[in-house]
Amino acid sequence: MESQHQSRSNPEARAKYRIRSFSMRGHNRMARDYDEVLEQHGPTYIIDVPVGPAAATVAPDALIDLTAEFDREAPLIVEIGPGNGEQLTHAAQQHPDWNFLAFEAWHPGVAKCVGNFARAELSNVRIIEADVAQALPIVFGLEIVQDDRAVQGGSGVGVDGTGIATGLVAASHQNAKNPRAHELWTFFPDPWRKARHHKRRLVSDLFTLTAAGVLEPGGIWRMATDWENYAWQMRDVIEAAAWFDNPHVGERPDPEDREPERGGFAPRYEGRLLTHFEERGRLAGRPAHDIVGVRREAPTQNG
Ligand SMILES: C[S@@+](CC[C@H](N)C(=O)[O-])C[C@H]1O[C@@H](n2cnc3c(N)ncnc32)[C@H](O)[C@@H]1O
Repeated sequence: MESQHQSRSNPEARAKYRIRSFSMRGHNRMARDYDEVLEQHGPTYIIDVPVGPAAATVAPDALIDLTAEFDREAPLIVEIGPGNGEQLTHAAQQHPDWNFLAFEAWHPGVAKCVGNFARAELSNVRIIEADVAQALPIVFGLEIVQDDRAVQGGSGVGVDGTGIATGLVAASHQNAKNPRAHELWTFFPDPWRKARHHKRRLVSDLFTLTAAGVLEPGGIWRMATDWENYAWQMRDVIEAAAWFDNPHVGERPDPEDREPERGGFAPRYEGRLLTHFEERGRLAGRPAHDIVGVRREAPTQNG
């Protein structure tokens, strides 16, 4: 009998939950090696969540207890889109006293991460295979409230009527008890280069509400990209966000910027490994920009 969590073939549900920031690679077909790795090490590292109405979604009523999953309380770092897990594996080795939770929608990427975690014999990292934009509010029990006039381009799940994008209504979902993150990492998200695809980019005004809900007050959202106009967009999003401060306003002006004097870029995060992915961009003439947002205690009224 088909359970309520297995309605993947329902086209209406699939359209509703289609991942917007994620381009499919290789039809998610896994190499045989990955099967073996997942069979052997998946149970250690993958948080096995009930799936939602479409592939790469989490069921809205999934109960996830992060403290139990890690079997301890420790500062939490959340990484979005770790790819093959190069940075994540490195960081988890460097900080055995931190818990690392990753969200990756690309199935072979999940298998590669798991293989890397196992080779490094890590015990402080877990991964959820899901579209992060859909999964984060569920895993952290967030109810995002927004006003469509304040946050353009989003399909809000509620309107608070005050005219500002406040987000973060205290949720009754049991997952709201999960610890908030010390840091949230979004390194080299899919760039969606064509202007008509920019709306698919993960870092957006609407996503700042989710990011703020995941982070503890004073927590840090670290971003990096090798696409200049995405770096400018990240900077613009953080500086407009009601829940974030940019501690590097005016720093490191970029002559290529459409507002060259403006700056707003962070120094390279010392905890960020030079990954193969970044190196490829660098060799192609695309040096990375780092952008940082510090989560405020409370939102500002004017962003
Ligand atoms: C360009 S790669 C960068 C990988 C890695 N961060 C690095 O720097 O090497 C972007 C990664 O984000 C993942 N991704 C994109 N959209 C996602 C989403 N909505 N949810 C989860 N992962 C996503 C992709 O599958 C891919 O692994």
